[in-house]
Amino acid sequence: MFWQGRDCGYKLGAKAEQSHRKSMVMENNLYLSVLLLLVWLASLSLFLVLYKHRSPFMAANLPPGATGYPWIGESLEFLSSGWKGEPEKFIFDRMMKYSSNVFKTSILGEPAVVLCGASSNKFLFSNENKLVAAWWPKSVNKVFPTTLQTNSKLESKKMRQLLPQFLKPEALQRYVPIMDSLANSHFASLWDNNSQLYVYPLAKRYTFSLACRLFMSLEDANQVARFENPFHLLASGIISLPIDLPGTAFNKAIKAANSIRKDLLEIIRQRKLDLAQGKASPTQDILSHMLLTSDHDGLFMTELDIADKILGLLIGGHDTASAACTFIVKYLAELPHIYHQVYQEQMEIAKSKLQGELLNWDDINRMKYSWNVACEVMRIAPPLQGGFREAINDFIFNGFSIPKGWKLYWSANSTHKNPEYFPEPEKFDPSRFEGEGPAPYTFVPFGGGPRMCPGKEYARLEILVFMHNLVKRYKWEKLIPDEKIIVDPLPIPANNLPIRLHPHKP
Ligand code: HEM
Repeated sequence: MFWQGRDCGYKLGAKAEQSHRKSMVMENNLYLSVLLLLVWLASLSLFLVLYKHRSPFMAANLPPGATGYPWIGESLEFLSSGWKGEPEKFIFDRMMKYSSNVFKTSILGEPAVVLCGASSNKFLFSNENKLVAAWWPKSVNKVFPTTLQTNSKLESKKMRQLLPQFLKPEALQRYVPIMDSLANSHFASLWDNNSQLYVYPLAKRYTFSLACRLFMSLEDANQVARFENPFHLLASGIISLPIDLPGTAFNKAIKAANSIRKDLLEIIRQRKLDLAQGKASPTQDILSHMLLTSDHDGLFMTELDIADKILGLLIGGHDTASAACTFIVKYLAELPHIYHQVYQEQMEIAKSKLQGELLNWDDINRMKYSWNVACEVMRIAPPLQGGFREAINDFIFNGFSIPKGWKLYWSANSTHKNPEYFPEPEKFDPSRFEGEGPAPYTFVPFGGGPRMCPGKEYARLEILVFMHNLVKRYKWEKLIPDEKIIVDPLPIPANNLPIRLHPHKP
């Protein structure tokens, strides 16, 4: 079948090579398993020796919960509930067993508490830099070494100072026609000539090309494609067990980040030359802005620092939005009455435009129903499952002690899939977002408080431009009706969402 034959293009006569490769893979797997076992046994012995004296879990009055196995804690349960496509299970099982607001666990090598529900979200988001601060898992810090040299809090602040110039309303308004023009050529070149296609890689190509164009003025399709390939390795290894051994997801992510960073450094050096020779403009994109902006002490960012910042933006700014676009395609295929209303709204806008006239800011603001649909998609399949913080002081939450240094995790699913806030949470219902919409701190796909996603508006634009161009051109049907969803760490359809397109008659 179409989606099964995708990677099966091997030649006759390649059998010997294949069996050699098979035995190499088996050897590698054996080697990896033995190493993992040794690492685990060593950690276990160390843990047993130190446990009585050093365990952070011995502190008094901690929230209820389990701490799992030595060192790996409950990481496997946490990650595997996502791999099985039910990331909320890890959260809801423990909310039922221990407490609906907070429970302790140990994930990704750290003692942690998970805060659940709207009041916990409010507490966490309102205490940024008072009781809690930005924190990234060790795996993220190792993939981004510049973060390690300073600290996550400082890096997050730096990024926040840089972004407003680039994401302010005047700038965003300028991006709408650029996004529409790129979406037009994206659909014309990659969708129009195919009756069957995989949605997920194409949605990624769309958001990635946009990010390359708007963040660094990169337009060459070949360069964009070369760049894009290592990104999926990076995205799936960035939140993983930080085991840097050949073959692990984490090891692949580090290698992928190094390869992308090398390409980015070349682009940065070229831009420096172009700026010096007047061939590039100081305001043309975020890359120029980063190169020409100094901090309060007059210091400029190093090339490596800029490369890591752009890398972070490319990850944060394309994978999330492409997951949202992919799930929009999925739900519109499954729910023809919702598709019909989106189509009506978008065609009204399309008909009000002159031939070849691109979308503008006012058009975007008329896409109210479509945005409610996108929000409902992000409620059911939040692109980011949650976020981490670190306790910067000892404090009491709901009568429990949270010790300084412990990690905190907020979970979008703890409210998005909770019938207390969203009755019949499994039902797709965009009318939840009409009028005043969901109660505060319950719908949190972009987080909340001072660290709420700074790219929220940018994401709204690119998602709506995508929806406009998509429904204007086609109807479609899914080729695998009950395709599995995997969350690793973003939600993706297990087979990349193959669909059959039905272009509208002219
Ligand atoms: C549908 C698309 C998107 C979703 C669902 C999303 C979601 C989020 C969430 C939940 C956070 C907060 C994490 C936390 O509380 O720890 C966040 C942070 C962030 N996002 Fe987004 N995001 C999206 C698109 C974007 C885009 C397009 C950009 C860039 C243009 C971007 C840049 C960032 C940055 C830089 C941060 C870190 C902020 C900080 O550390 O203070 N995001 N995003």
